[in-house]
Amino acid sequence: MKCVQEQFEHALLECKTAKDVEALKLRYLGKKGIIQDQMRLLKEVSPEQRPAVGAQVNALKVYIEGKLDQFLSRIVDQEREQRMAGERLDVTLPGRAHFLGSKHPIPATIDEIVRILKDLGFSAQVGPQIETEYYNFEVLNFAPDHPAKDMQDTFYIEPGILLRTQTSNVQGRVMERTSPPIRIACPGRCFRNEEVSARSHCFFHQVEALYIDQGVSMQDLFSTFREFVQRLFQRDDLEVRFRPSYFPFVEPGTECDATCLVCNGKGCQLCKYSGWLEICGAGMVHPQVLRNVGIDPEKYQGYAWGMGVERLIMLRHSIRDIRLFSENDMRFLRQFHGA
Ligand code: PHE
Repeated sequence: MKCVQEQFEHALLECKTAKDVEALKLRYLGKKGIIQDQMRLLKEVSPEQRPAVGAQVNALKVYIEGKLDQFLSRIVDQEREQRMAGERLDVTLPGRAHFLGSKHPIPATIDEIVRILKDLGFSAQVGPQIETEYYNFEVLNFAPDHPAKDMQDTFYIEPGILLRTQTSNVQGRVMERTSPPIRIACPGRCFRNEEVSARSHCFFHQVEALYIDQGVSMQDLFSTFREFVQRLFQRDDLEVRFRPSYFPFVEPGTECDATCLVCNGKGCQLCKYSGWLEICGAGMVHPQVLRNVGIDPEKYQGYAWGMGVERLIMLRHSIRDIRLFSENDMRFLRQFHGA
């Protein structure tokens, strides 16, 4: 018995890691361990001596258990200390910043425009970016060889199929399958084969508004546009004005301006000293367009407008270069956080 204890103490001193201690524990206290062997040997001891020897084996077992536990907790402590020393925490290091993402200014502004139009009774509609020449031009009263097609340099995919140049392409699609009253807002991306510069890009976004009903007049266009502009810029002192313009699908056609946001009409660099900012093209839907989609122009009239989203954001935030919207420069995008 004495020699078992001595052997154990030697082995314990050899233990370096918690794993070693576990192995030793198994060797002595396991089911096939040394202590169990001793218990089995008890059978060979004479009945008189058995209680005394048994007590000795038990005492040894308790002793070994105690030693092992003690040793194990010391090693575990040591190992933890070593680990902590290795992975020292430098509390003076700067923290890791987490940046909250934000919506890109274009979809954010589109959402805003559509929300205002919804409040004014319009419902949102979308159309395809890859479009037929028919919906992008012909139904809108651009004759096949109409020189007005030159106004919008077009990316053709194949003859008759193109990237839409305007969200007006949704007009024909919706009017064809819906009977008036129709009151829709159509946001989306458009493409034109233009030189990319600070002022123009080969893709941009528009939101179209279309209203068709009985007895719709230019006065409806004026007042709805005015209400829209005042809500968008959250200023009810803004005035609007309309200048004659030409688009094949409206008659009369107009450019819609609003009081300059910066100088309030006095004249400044932003408005080129005119006191007005150009917001969108508009007009009364051409009777031929209504005929093209099977709506009787004697019975129904309507107006439409189409505004450029990038242009609007540029006016609002005095941004001078349209290319910034598609360059993914975080310094630019972060400025719209929560805008
Ligand atoms: N689609 C025209 C453009 O892109 C704008 C417009 C829309 C004009 C609706 C009149 C009516 O220039």
